[in-house]
Amino acid sequence: MTFSMKGSMGHDSVGSSLEGSDSAQDDPVHLKRRVGLFSGVALIVGTMIGSGIFVSPSGLLERTGSVGISFIIWMACGLLSLLGEYFNHYTSFQEPTSVIGVSRDDCKSRSFQNSSVSTTSAKGGGSRPESLKNTALECGLRRKSSVCGIYHRALAYAELGTMNTSSGAEYAYFMDAFGGPPAFLFSWVSTLVLKPSQMAIICLSFAKYAVEPFVHECEPPGALVKLVAVISIVMILAVNCYSVNLATNVQNIFTAAKLVAIAIIVCGGAYKLILGNTRHLQEPNFSSSTATLGNIATAFYTGLWAYDGWNNLNYVTEEIKNPSKNLPLSIIIGIPLVTLCYALVNVSYLAVMSVSEMADSEAVAVTFGNRLLGPMAWLMPLAVTISTFGSANGTLFVAGRLCFAASREGHLLDILSYVHVRRFTPAPGLIFHSLIAVAMVLYGTIDSLIDFFSFTAWIFYGGAMLALIVMRHTKPHAPRPYKVPIIIPYIVLLVSAYLVVAPIIDKPQWEYLYATGFIFGGLLVYLPFVKWGYSLPFMDKITVFLQMVLEVVPTSTTFE
Ligand code: ARG
Repeated sequence: MTFSMKGSMGHDSVGSSLEGSDSAQDDPVHLKRRVGLFSGVALIVGTMIGSGIFVSPSGLLERTGSVGISFIIWMACGLLSLLGEYFNHYTSFQEPTSVIGVSRDDCKSRSFQNSSVSTTSAKGGGSRPESLKNTALECGLRRKSSVCGIYHRALAYAELGTMNTSSGAEYAYFMDAFGGPPAFLFSWVSTLVLKPSQMAIICLSFAKYAVEPFVHECEPPGALVKLVAVISIVMILAVNCYSVNLATNVQNIFTAAKLVAIAIIVCGGAYKLILGNTRHLQEPNFSSSTATLGNIATAFYTGLWAYDGWNNLNYVTEEIKNPSKNLPLSIIIGIPLVTLCYALVNVSYLAVMSVSEMADSEAVAVTFGNRLLGPMAWLMPLAVTISTFGSANGTLFVAGRLCFAASREGHLLDILSYVHVRRFTPAPGLIFHSLIAVAMVLYGTIDSLIDFFSFTAWIFYGGAMLALIVMRHTKPHAPRPYKVPIIIPYIVLLVSAYLVVAPIIDKPQWEYLYATGFIFGGLLVYLPFVKWGYSLPFMDKITVFLQMVLEVVPTSTTFE
């Protein structure tokens, strides 16, 4: 027995519910353009400012041993994010505007085209339903996939002459430049490693801050931090499984809190500087640097983590008012604004504590609050806790959609693309991500996870640049409405190669081997289940069992 779509999900609120918009109820296909310039900037800034700026400065200082070098790295990370976004924008935003205002008919015909692709690429799933005819539902969820960038960008790549309109982003690039296996590996790693590790890192930071006030400037017990991190993952999972509207509201409120935290730090630092507390800032201290090439690369990992999330606006491109103007403008305002905030926060920290105090502090913002805010010191950990919780919420929100989209492409088990019958949330994908994140929390530390995440992420960022360069040669005449200046992918490719190779040479660690092993381990799944089309004999039974336990139903429609 499987749940049938009719009666359980075949009504118009599905698409709108997933979009978190009440006003869209009458028409599940259209997303409302509600994101103006201000909210665009807020989205970028709100995602980027998470745990990093409150935790990372000490790690960065410890790795470089020099205020001057760590300051340069902070600024370089901002620049690199801007270049990355420049690349991302100009590769992902090459779709005709009609795609953004897609009509029900457009969507239907596109779903029709996609179906033939997805049935071939989904061979491994085994249990993909064949006769689900609810086009509105299909469209609503397709639109949601586009929110996480997959379908939306796939159309851009289709414009460029690529082959597969039902999958996209880096996946489509890899597919076109290097073929199926690397493309699958990207999809596999981003869903199984990159997103859950982001979640694990942020929740560990959340836990550290939540516990810190109760242990007064001494190291909180590791087991307690892990326990609180796991509890936070469960809470965020509950919010996201309960309702999309609740998740988006949590996101908005908590984004405001992180800006308050930044404002408190900057004002406090300015106050100290006005009082003449400038001695820690006076010498840039290049000579005391302990930085090796590998140390600098891992310092970059730490800094780039704090800037991670710069591409999140691309996930909501179709909800932006006047996107051709507001998307680039939000980027140009948002990323430099965060860079400025980070520079000011770093200066503020040094106005209040010495370099060695900062390097030794496990939670810089809390130490800052204890030094400066007196009886109000509790404000700092509270604000940062709220900020990291919000960031983790947003991360799981996007991660759930990525998982949903990847499984629809047949790269993961089909059950992961199902949604809850009444709540319309992609519960299996959210639960799956949370389970991996819990395992990472239990196994890793913030620093080791950041290294693990960054190493893996930069392999694929570099790969995407290489794909672009390769395609300039293999497909010189493909239409490219917005051609990226070729120097940019070359620069980012070089930086990526350095960021991947330098830490291994400098200090080989097991984590790098695990990460590499995991990436290539994907081939063990790709070959039998995707390429050769085998499926496990008991998979159907497990799928049905999980469907009943979780009350979830499939959403994909296949037209024959
Ligand atoms: N930059 C954020 C921080 O400092 C992390 C963002 C995680 N990435 C994401 N795409 N949600 O904590």
